[in-house]
Amino acid sequence: MRLWYGGDYNPEQWSEEVWAEDVALMRRAGVTLVTVGVFSWSRLEPSEGRYTFGWLDRVLDLLADGGIGVDLAVPTASPPPWFSLAHPDALTVTRDGVRLTHGSRDTYCVSAPAYREASSRITRALSERYRDHPALAMWHVHNEYGTPCHCDHAAAAFRAWLRKRYGGLDALNDAWTTAFWGQHYSDWAQITPPRATQYLPNPAQALDFRRFVSDEMLAHFAEQRDLLREATPGVPVTTNYVLAGWACVDHWKWSREVDLVAIDDYPSGQGMAAAEQTAFAADLARSWAGGRPWLLMEQATGYVLGPRTSPKEPGEIARHSLQHVARGSKGAMFFQWRASRGGAEQWHPGMVPHTGPDSRVFREICALGEALKRVPAPLDGPLDGPPVVEAEVAILWDEEAWWAVQGPGLPSAEIDYLAAAEQAHRVLWRQGLAACFAHPSHDLSAYRAVLVPSLYLISDEAARNLAAYVEGGGTLVVSFFSGIADEHPRIRLGGYPGALREILGIRVEEFRPLADAIELPEFGRATVWSEVVHLDGAETVARYPGGGPAVTCHRLGGGTAWYVSTRLDDPGYARVLAHAGLAGSGTPGVEVVRQRDRIFAINHTEDEQPVPVDGTDLITGKPVDGRLDPGGYVVVPL
Ligand code: GAL
Repeated sequence: MRLWYGGDYNPEQWSEEVWAEDVALMRRAGVTLVTVGVFSWSRLEPSEGRYTFGWLDRVLDLLADGGIGVDLAVPTASPPPWFSLAHPDALTVTRDGVRLTHGSRDTYCVSAPAYREASSRITRALSERYRDHPALAMWHVHNEYGTPCHCDHAAAAFRAWLRKRYGGLDALNDAWTTAFWGQHYSDWAQITPPRATQYLPNPAQALDFRRFVSDEMLAHFAEQRDLLREATPGVPVTTNYVLAGWACVDHWKWSREVDLVAIDDYPSGQGMAAAEQTAFAADLARSWAGGRPWLLMEQATGYVLGPRTSPKEPGEIARHSLQHVARGSKGAMFFQWRASRGGAEQWHPGMVPHTGPDSRVFREICALGEALKRVPAPLDGPLDGPPVVEAEVAILWDEEAWWAVQGPGLPSAEIDYLAAAEQAHRVLWRQGLAACFAHPSHDLSAYRAVLVPSLYLISDEAARNLAAYVEGGGTLVVSFFSGIADEHPRIRLGGYPGALREILGIRVEEFRPLADAIELPEFGRATVWSEVVHLDGAETVARYPGGGPAVTCHRLGGGTAWYVSTRLDDPGYARVLAHAGLAGSGTPGVEVVRQRDRIFAINHTEDEQPVPVDGTDLITGKPVDGRLDPGGYVVVPL
């Protein structure tokens, strides 16, 4: 099967003559799939129950005639203005009690009955209209789910969710520690989402609300998915996850519900940092997909970095795309096909830039389309078969723990779970060690090592799982502020890190967040955090300037558990990994990824580099003799 190549196509911004040119250019670029209609609700249903499908019929027919498949969107991420006017109660209410107005996108309350009903109506209408259309290849529900609402509808749904989770108020009061600050609830009606309040909110309430928001949005997704599955049983249904710091959903849970995991990836760094972040995103997606193929649904031909938008450097579009394909993406998709002339994202880069097709970017897009034609899609394989890419090291990933560490009133505002996970991944990547991500309760026995990045919250079950992993011979490397709280998140008493004390063979008496950097002999600069660590079976590997243990190592059963009680810079963290037996022989910036049937090599540096790959490059048909050009890449069958 061919790889998918294309992007979001929003033709309603352009006149029909442009559509014909679009399809001709797509064919020139080798585009095979476009996502249509993500934000088209107001053009498809201009008033309640009245549909104007004519334009979309013509677009889909044109695409079908051009041999281009359609990932047809259910446009619920942007309800029409008439809907918001008719149902003001379905507009988002922020934490501060401000009811947002129409004028952007994503302004809805996923718990509002009118929104749920209108969503199902447009989903049903689209599925009935296009179920047999030859261009239909996939369904794309919504866009980047991630709008929490704090209104009364949300409050009612939150209470229903809490009743299910806790059964009774006694259990809730206990889990939320409402005995403190006089928060005891004597009636469900007293409970609200964590709205603006005088001082610190209750952390258990805040965390449960984030869990609820993820589940509530998932229920909305599942409603549309079930309608679509009923109409077109063979057509996969997906939605695109947003990555980076905006983690609004529990990806492990969601990934069990989608037919295909799909991510949007917009690195926040440039150059090598972008390559590192791309690998991180793609390894996450593959892991969420259970090791099976998945899809890069959006990326950009340029960098969208807060205050600046700039083009990617020559070759980066292809290298980033191949990083994803190497890690099991079924294709490379972009936002968006043609850069808008007006509207909120008029400066967002496109596959066809404002300049038009006579441009470096479009030439690179055509060259990439040509290259991807020669690389077959990754093998799907059975669900219980081998993963598309084997990894020896797992990094623990758990959104609940991340949300907890984003909660109120922690001993340092600088503890950053994402940064810790990124550092673990980056340090492995630079040494050429393949990594994946795992939930703390997953079976970890297949991994040579498991890295635990500042995982504040750990359940009893997960702690038992980690103990069994080490006892069974595994290597565990735990970073500071892991295993501190249970799932409510209540501190585990008797010495930190309560859940991991026995595994690590230590007892931490005090936390000492750092205002300034300190130096550890051999391990270098340490920042953010330090601890008063007592040994209880472990040995000291590195000491604080005052002499107390900073890095420790504990043998338990057949395995070893390492503890890093401060935030080390990358070289120091790499040194800990080396002590733990994790040192790769890769060249920084040169990545080699092995799939079951081929090997990808990508040179992100500006120099020619040796690579341990021989054979014939699928893309150029030329022999690969163990060297890669500056910025070069090859795909060699095994
Ligand atoms: C994505 C989003 C797209 C577009 C893009 C711009 O997060 O799904 O609709 O806004 O960002 O970077």
